[in-house]
Amino acid sequence: MLGDDMCHREVEFADLQSNVRNKVLAVYALDPSVWATALMTGSGTAAVEAMITSLVPSDGKLLIVENGVYGERISRIADRYAIANAKLTNAWQDPIDFDALRHALESDPGITHLAVVHHETTTGRLNNLAPLADICRQHGVSILLDAVSSFGAEAIDFQQWPIVGCAATANKCLHGVPGTCFVVVDRQALTAGSARNLYLDLGAYVTAQDQNGTPFTQSIQTFYALDEALDELVDAGGVEERRNLYERRMRQIRKLLRELNIVPLLNDEDCSCVLHAYEIPEFTNYQQLHDELKTAGFVIYAGQGNYASSIFRISMMGEISDSDIKRLRNALTKALTG
Ligand SMILES: Cc1ncc(COP(=O)(O)O)c(C=O)c1O
Repeated sequence: MLGDDMCHREVEFADLQSNVRNKVLAVYALDPSVWATALMTGSGTAAVEAMITSLVPSDGKLLIVENGVYGERISRIADRYAIANAKLTNAWQDPIDFDALRHALESDPGITHLAVVHHETTTGRLNNLAPLADICRQHGVSILLDAVSSFGAEAIDFQQWPIVGCAATANKCLHGVPGTCFVVVDRQALTAGSARNLYLDLGAYVTAQDQNGTPFTQSIQTFYALDEALDELVDAGGVEERRNLYERRMRQIRKLLRELNIVPLLNDEDCSCVLHAYEIPEFTNYQQLHDELKTAGFVIYAGQGNYASSIFRISMMGEISDSDIKRLRNALTKALTG
């Protein structure tokens, strides 16, 4: 982040931007003649909003899969822009109901796109996308994927799944800093005139960035950080190794918490490698647990919505050492031994 400040209209910035765009595609070995990175200044929600408002054509219809806060946020975006949509609503703790999905697509042939969250951070669930992708392919439906909290650490099959847009951010599994987000977009899905928002127009970003420009001023220092973070991901062995690393850390914490009689919200096989949720035991409450752990140097996350006072969440993203994990284990043991 302490690289030289520079003008976003100069060739030095164009080089940085173009390197980052290519490195983002390289994370999943994507062909730049088929895919483009639209690199933007904003948080993950900006990328999701850009994807939803740019990639559903005016005569298209979006089916939104909801099983948590972030699926519901996609619905709020679609409703706010009056994008024709239908919702497939599941309880937050539940997996996607594939029979209901089949039924929704069969009963409404007008549906052209489906939006879904990959890792639904509300509960830590990694939505099972392979069967969903099969059903979408059978119905000729394109997928818009919110991969904000999975890109870089979970498998995304861009070849087999009919994905046309994938929104993500620099500061989660890629280990950049907040301020840069992006959408990986199938170039063929960019149809002129379908954007509903001026600032978040994916087509405008791709056109300008393909020509070494940018439609708006970018957050240059956070681009530096993402550029470096993408190199570090390669050095660390790529997506699979990052997944293994997060999983190793997560397993240790999950095992400890089980020994302390703390109940995980979801079964092991349903969880992402990135974040797990646990029920708060009766002898304490979120605020007390949070404060005790914060004093020991760790920040946990509260649940959202109905889960606000019943669960806490622990994430394994970032530069975490074995000794950090050891300290966390000690802190959790102290705070959760009732
Ligand atoms: C799956 C998912 N989508 C979207 C977002 C929103 O990202 P941001 O807070 O960076 O706007 C988050 C944030 O945690 C997320 O986990």
